[in-house]
Amino acid sequence: MDEIAYSWVRACEGAGLTREVQTVTGPTVIVPALVHIVLGPPRVLTVRLQPGMTVQDVRSLAARIAPHMHAHGLRVEPRGTGEWAVVTLLDADPLALTVPMSYRDDGRTLLGRLDTGTDLVQDMRKEAHTIVQGVTRSGKSVWTYSLLAQLCREPDVLVTGSDPTGLLWRPFVGSRHAKHQVSGLDSIDQHEKLLLRLVDEMDQRIRDLPADRDSLAITPDVPLLVVVLEELAGLYRAADAANKDQGKRIRALIGRLLAEGAKAGVRVLILVQRAEAAVVGAFERAMCSTRISFRTDNRASVELLHPGADPLIADQHTTALPGIGLVSTPGRSLSRMRAPFFGSYSDYAAAIRSAA
Ligand SMILES: Nc1ncnc2c1ncn2[C@@H]1O[C@H](COP(=O)(O)OP(=O)(O)OP(=O)(O)O)[C@@H](O)[C@H]1O
Ligand SMILES: [Mg+2]
Repeated sequence: MDEIAYSWVRACEGAGLTREVQTVTGPTVIVPALVHIVLGPPRVLTVRLQPGMTVQDVRSLAARIAPHMHAHGLRVEPRGTGEWAVVTLLDADPLALTVPMSYRDDGRTLLGRLDTGTDLVQDMRKEAHTIVQGVTRSGKSVWTYSLLAQLCREPDVLVTGSDPTGLLWRPFVGSRHAKHQVSGLDSIDQHEKLLLRLVDEMDQRIRDLPADRDSLAITPDVPLLVVVLEELAGLYRAADAANKDQGKRIRALIGRLLAEGAKAGVRVLILVQRAEAAVVGAFERAMCSTRISFRTDNRASVELLHPGADPLIADQHTTALPGIGLVSTPGRSLSRMRAPFFGSYSDYAAAIRSAA
């Protein structure tokens, strides 16, 4: 008991989870008070936060506190009206196990399981665009499989886009989505034509907006257009090599979908290995409210999508397992999640064929 209490004070002092108070002998720092300890396992501490501290303050310093409590990580939950926190010391990474694919029945999509144990779900109809980065074999495509398998079950969603790798769209052959999907890099013109069609559709939708609405009502007749741009850097490279002007035109079309699409029922999903300025400029990045980084090669890459991320968390992410991502969504600070996992490509293909 005493050892835990001692470690807690030292860890909080070291991490800066402190409040400075004046005493007769001069200023001193105090840390959240330990009011209850369960020895477990798991070890669970109940602490009273100091005035001005939030549960989020503890969470954001968890990576600095945990090692000094001989824990892999901390799970921090609010108690009461926010002046208490329940801190569980995790002996292993809660994301070490794979998260099996599962479906919801409320029209929302599962993005992943957070390290708090809760599911991160989102209604794409209500959010803006999404960008995903990660080095090769970090889990971008597998995450996309799980997303598309969920989306293609929704009657008011049309899954469209451009996939230089050719793997995403193969199972969609014969479905209502297929004619809005372009694979491979044999014909850059096909990609440009598709993007032109999508921009035309977007313009038409904006022209047709009723006078009393500022965004489109999504219905099966006017579906949400989810525009997946898999390996976007590859498409740009191929387009630039074919014809510089074509590269520029394709960038401009994508820029328009990002800038004006949100209110017209268009949601762009960009997948790149690194969200560097040459591929996604600051403007494009700013249009993406959901940002996911699977394993990155360095801290600076994390910064590209999650400015202000704790350098310690960013550094640790360079060794993340496949499918573990850092995720920023509207209204939620940077979190760690594990993407749902289809055991194999053939499971993905079967899921799309049976639903799309
Ligand atoms: N959520 C996950 N859970 C467990 N394993 C995963 C997960 N996601 C990916 N993997 C493993 O990692 C491998 C690579 O994943 P994926 O093909 O999605 O990488 P990628 O980021 O798309 O890479 P590339 O840039 O080369 O296309 C998968 O074949 C799978 O074995
Ligand atoms: Mg991939």
